[in-house]
Amino acid sequence: MKILHVIGGEETGSADGSAYADIDPYTRESYAEVANGGEKDVRRAVAAAREAFDTGPWPRTGLAERGRLLHRFADLIEAHAAEFADAETRDMGKPTSAVAGHDVPRAAQNIRFFADHARLGGADLLPSDTGHHTYVRHEPAGVVAAIAPWNFPLMLATWKIAPALAWGNTVVLKPAEDTPRSAALLGRLALAAGLPPGVLNVVLGFGPAGAALTRHPGVDRITFTGSSTTGRAIAAAAAAHLTPVSLELGGKGAALVFDDADVDSAVEWTLKAAFGNSGQVCLAGSRLYVQSGVYDTFMERFVAGAEALRLGDPSDPDTQLGPLASAAHHRKVTGYLTPDALGGGRILTGGASHDWFVRPTVITGMAADAPVHRDEVFGPVVTVTRFDTERQGVGLANSTPYGLSAMLFTENLHRAHRAAAGLRAGNVWVNCFFVRDLRAPFGGAGDSGIGREGGLYSREFFTEPKTVSVRIAH
Ligand code: NAI
Ligand code: MG
Repeated sequence: MKILHVIGGEETGSADGSAYADIDPYTRESYAEVANGGEKDVRRAVAAAREAFDTGPWPRTGLAERGRLLHRFADLIEAHAAEFADAETRDMGKPTSAVAGHDVPRAAQNIRFFADHARLGGADLLPSDTGHHTYVRHEPAGVVAAIAPWNFPLMLATWKIAPALAWGNTVVLKPAEDTPRSAALLGRLALAAGLPPGVLNVVLGFGPAGAALTRHPGVDRITFTGSSTTGRAIAAAAAAHLTPVSLELGGKGAALVFDDADVDSAVEWTLKAAFGNSGQVCLAGSRLYVQSGVYDTFMERFVAGAEALRLGDPSDPDTQLGPLASAAHHRKVTGYLTPDALGGGRILTGGASHDWFVRPTVITGMAADAPVHRDEVFGPVVTVTRFDTERQGVGLANSTPYGLSAMLFTENLHRAHRAAAGLRAGNVWVNCFFVRDLRAPFGGAGDSGIGREGGLYSREFFTEPKTVSVRIAH
């Protein structure tokens, strides 16, 4: 199988003919050959997006018609659910059932939501005391660079391109090197749905392709999800042209389980939050804080639950955890299970398994600055700490430079709101996990990024507001 760029409406290899192997982390063998984008391919893609923006119909198409085409795009995504599921499973080992049951519907929903939101949302109209009619136009920003990570390749790519396209921009999408296939398929389906050539371009390749895109002067917006380290490099590159950036970066989410929690429910949600997608989730609840009164009961059930999770062939519908996404990532995650990284911590259950699998791993007793407890491990690894008072628990949860997500479990209404207010995080879930309302702001504080996307927050980022004042003569 060959996976190609989609540039200006054409599927194409790289200008210099370069390609790389797409490794299936379950078989650990190459299953496809991927066009390896470089500076020239990025330049071609930005030029195609620029031309489609400056002279093509897309930014000038009415919202109803744009919405109709985007709904067609979503229809095609749904119709290709099986192909997307195969793509994600083979590219990064995600269970096929999770892609088909969750990621594909969410991807289609991303497109549909923003298509409707752009069309149905109101405009700003300012009542005048001066005899002027003043209103705000939200005009498309231009060419959007969207750089996506490998952990939810389809879902996060659509989360970026949907608002960008719905508000009339043209896009160059660069997926992560490990997960090119769903992005290339999106590029082809956009054309099949009737989006004009050059509106959605897809350039495949490694970090240097992403870097070439972020320093290109023809790019008007950069939206990125990935590591905080790469986020900093992108912010620096964007500074040269004052290109606005939206950065959704790493996390080290805390889950607080209070004495008054429904323990079984807390166990169920924290297992999902720690180990879902093999822990390769920016929103993961990878630091668990459990109050003393419920600690023993909770831990017994949590460890049993972790041990009951089924690892295996990601294409098997019974599999809950596939392998980690790549050899390099497996090395990174298992590197956190060495004595130095554990910082005195003890592995209650888990550890490296066969091949690129890591079993759900539960660690206690580590030092506060142990790397496994401090860094974003991005694997099925959770650290557990006991706490006594609510104040102490919230303080511990906040003791990280990240600020993306937090969870808390309590049946006490007052405590729920009080603790939610005290947590430093862009998203707080009370007695639940992973709830995403597409109207709500999504993003994080501190090292977790810059800006928010979602609903009107996406409109703010992907448009240039223009204030028009018209004098009304009397
Ligand atoms: P990364 O942040 O380097 O990669 C994400 C994307 O950025 C990929 O498309 C990559 O090609 C691109 N990229 C890399 N260098 C770039 C540059 N200088 N300019 C522009 N684009 C660039 O993440 P990586 O190396 O795949 O994973 C490392 C760690 O990052 C993970 O172990 C995890 O801790 C974290 N991560 C967090 C994610 C999140 O959802 N917040 C997603 C992916 C990774
Ligand atoms: Mg791969």
